[in-house]
Amino acid sequence: MPSVLVLNGPNLNLLGSREPAVYGSESLADVERICQDAAQRFGLRAACRQSNHEGVLIDWIHEAGRLCAQGEAIGVVLNAGALTHTSIALHDAIRGTALPVIEYHISNVHAREAFRHHSWVSPVARAVMAGLGVQGYGLAIAALAQLAGVAAQEGKSPGINGK
Ligand code: DQA
Repeated sequence: MPSVLVLNGPNLNLLGSREPAVYGSESLADVERICQDAAQRFGLRAACRQSNHEGVLIDWIHEAGRLCAQGEAIGVVLNAGALTHTSIALHDAIRGTALPVIEYHISNVHAREAFRHHSWVSPVARAVMAGLGVQGYGLAIAALAQLAGVAAQEGKSPGINGK
């Protein structure tokens, strides 16, 4: 079963307790359940990982590039957290692997502080999504499946929460 990788960067392990007015009250474990459900609707498996370390995320991007080249994965949903706004190394890793990446942010970064408006990921992402809360991870997986030409499986709606 091909996989979709869901990579979360710094501080996203704090979901649920971190600024709930901005990021909501769901935890990273809830995000992983949303991702598994969304992936399953397309006959995919979600491989969810989180790290607070830039180099670890870069290694995972490289690994994802190899998996995609072998047809074992369809791409990455990446919420790089604050590294989005600072990391040329992440930009280079995505560019270097030619990996299909959907950049995702739980909050609408463009409605927030100016320093969140610039992204080093966006120029090398296939698509950019933001502001849909934790359910947006499922929508990003559906979008990645669509880009990869993977259809939803019979009887499994690709809508939010499976509704
Ligand atoms: C975030 C937005 C970033 O600006 C912030 O640094 C994060 C989370 C989001 O999901 O809304 O850590 O990527």
